[in-house]
Amino acid sequence: MAESMQGLHRTCRCAEVTKEMIGSEVVLMGWVQKARDKGGIIFVDLRDRSGIIQLIFENGNIDEEGFVKAGKLRSEFVIAVTGTVEKRGGAVNENLATGEIEIRVKSLRILSEAEVPPFPIEENSKTKEDIRLKYRYLDLRRPDLQKNLMLKSKIMMLTRQFFAKEGFLEIETPMLGKSTPEGARDYLVPSRVHPGQFYGLPQSPQLYKQLLMCSGYDRYIQIARCFRDEDLRADRQPEFTQIDMELSFVDVDDVIDVNERFLAFLFKEVLGIEVKLPIQRITWQEAMDRFGSDKPDMRFGMELTDVSDVVKNCGFGVFTSALENGGSVRGINAEGQGSMPRKKIDKLVEFAKGYGVKGLAYIAIAEDGTRKSSFAKFMTEEEMNALVDAMDGKPGDLLLFAADKKKLVYDVLGALRLELAKQMNLLDKNEYRFVWVTEFPLLEWSDEENRYTAMHHPFTMPMEEDIPLIDTDPGKVRAKAYDIVLNGNEIGGGSVRIHQDDIQEKMFEVLGFTKEAAHEQFGFLLDAFKYGVPPHAGLAYGLDRLVMLMAKVDSIRDVIAFPKVKDASCLMTQSPSVVSEEQLEELDLEIRPQEK
Ligand code: AMO
Ligand code: AMP
Repeated sequence: MAESMQGLHRTCRCAEVTKEMIGSEVVLMGWVQKARDKGGIIFVDLRDRSGIIQLIFENGNIDEEGFVKAGKLRSEFVIAVTGTVEKRGGAVNENLATGEIEIRVKSLRILSEAEVPPFPIEENSKTKEDIRLKYRYLDLRRPDLQKNLMLKSKIMMLTRQFFAKEGFLEIETPMLGKSTPEGARDYLVPSRVHPGQFYGLPQSPQLYKQLLMCSGYDRYIQIARCFRDEDLRADRQPEFTQIDMELSFVDVDDVIDVNERFLAFLFKEVLGIEVKLPIQRITWQEAMDRFGSDKPDMRFGMELTDVSDVVKNCGFGVFTSALENGGSVRGINAEGQGSMPRKKIDKLVEFAKGYGVKGLAYIAIAEDGTRKSSFAKFMTEEEMNALVDAMDGKPGDLLLFAADKKKLVYDVLGALRLELAKQMNLLDKNEYRFVWVTEFPLLEWSDEENRYTAMHHPFTMPMEEDIPLIDTDPGKVRAKAYDIVLNGNEIGGGSVRIHQDDIQEKMFEVLGFTKEAAHEQFGFLLDAFKYGVPPHAGLAYGLDRLVMLMAKVDSIRDVIAFPKVKDASCLMTQSPSVVSEEQLEELDLEIRPQEK
């Protein structure tokens, strides 16, 4: 028999009861974490989003009927109690904020009963994630997820507070719009009124925010939902949230400045951490050369060394032929790993092969200076010495080399560097290392499409001094684009936008757009620019990624209330799902029969 509220008012949340309140009467409500019946006395742990407090039901303090009712309490029953705050009779529970006190209950209402949940509601659940996701509403009761979502709420609140103070206006942009050119596949929504036509869900508010600059809003911010139909990973969801902004009359430094102050504010308020300003900046080229990645994890060294010059005339064909084919030979030094067993090295080789290289060459230097190497037999003693010197190899070190096309060498060694750091326990979740990566290439050659594609998006401004190269050597043009990277994660990115007709036209030209095609897709933006457009620039953070790092969790799913799984489905609601014939008819859509 579920009782109701009927005039009862909660005085505070469970873990908000403090020692200072001893002697006073409180009304608490929440879920039964655990009930223990010790004969004449019943202990109940009561839980809400603030935490847990211990309740005591003892015959005499509560009437006979109430005591009998208390005997029926099971985990996850929802109850309301009135009682007095007391110093704990038994041992203090160091694990609880409320561990020194308890509530002597005078009256009890059972607000609802509960079936036995499919898994226990507890911190650090060992239950498989797919079961937890199916019953996400129960999973969300667990303290770890509650902490994460409360953290996210706080971060959103502080974000609005900071940017409002800086003169940003929060403006909404449509969900049903025209597809945005962010490079992933669009989610499409069929139109009933216009059969055969579709809205695109925004991959980001990019075009709208640029239009808002044209319209004079000056500084825009939005906590915006974005949709991208791309393959999911631990740090990617098909719908995710951006802290999205755009500013007028600014250049790179202005955007970086306000965002550095934002990050410093946020980390101070939320984690009590001082972010040292200015945040380090490195160019994209330097990031690739030193770390093999455009989102380098700066918490540890193990940087890449280019040994191409050292090995260009050596006897090892793998190295020399890679160089002859215009490639590169680079290595990393895993210091102190020289005694890594052969089996483990073989695993690293397999790991590297997963990235597409044919192999990985190594030199393991024992503590006594003797070397084991996969390619020593092809090299002279002098050649080996020169290579070890170039790598700063000392006794006890493991040197790993990849030889291939430059891009592949970066990828492999960048990934290997991270893998080794994991194995060597070099990654501390409590350490936060930011870096701006700047001067990204404007264009990227796509073998698939046999043309240049925009690395960021087609509205990104080239660096002024590189503009002449657009005609002669487009691959070399650097962009006024920047990413903010935290512990090896791209938490945000943005750019200065093109606001000049002639540069925009050139850009469309290299991207292989005809004038007509450009107008068909972005005509409204190009038209808007004809009527007076301020120079503008912006940036967007992946809010979920940022929260994931601040919450020190490994998966973006742990900071999203109702996330999707790898195949983009929701295990709880079973979406996506088939729709009725009537719905399809209304939309004038027909499903093609699936080929078996
Ligand atoms: P970009 O495409 O770099 O830039 O996106 C900005 C940030 O959003 C996050 N992000 C994601 N997070 C979770 N799941 C995803 N699938 C996902 N995709 C991206 C990343 C990324 O850094 N309009 C531009 C911004 C601008 O130029 O102002 C944009 O969307 O953390
Ligand atoms: P092999 O000539 O096949 O005996 O290879 C000699 C060593 O070179 C082995 O350790 C291979 O793993 C390594 N190797 C092969 N291809 C590459 C490559 N592209 N880069 C670095 N090492 C390689």
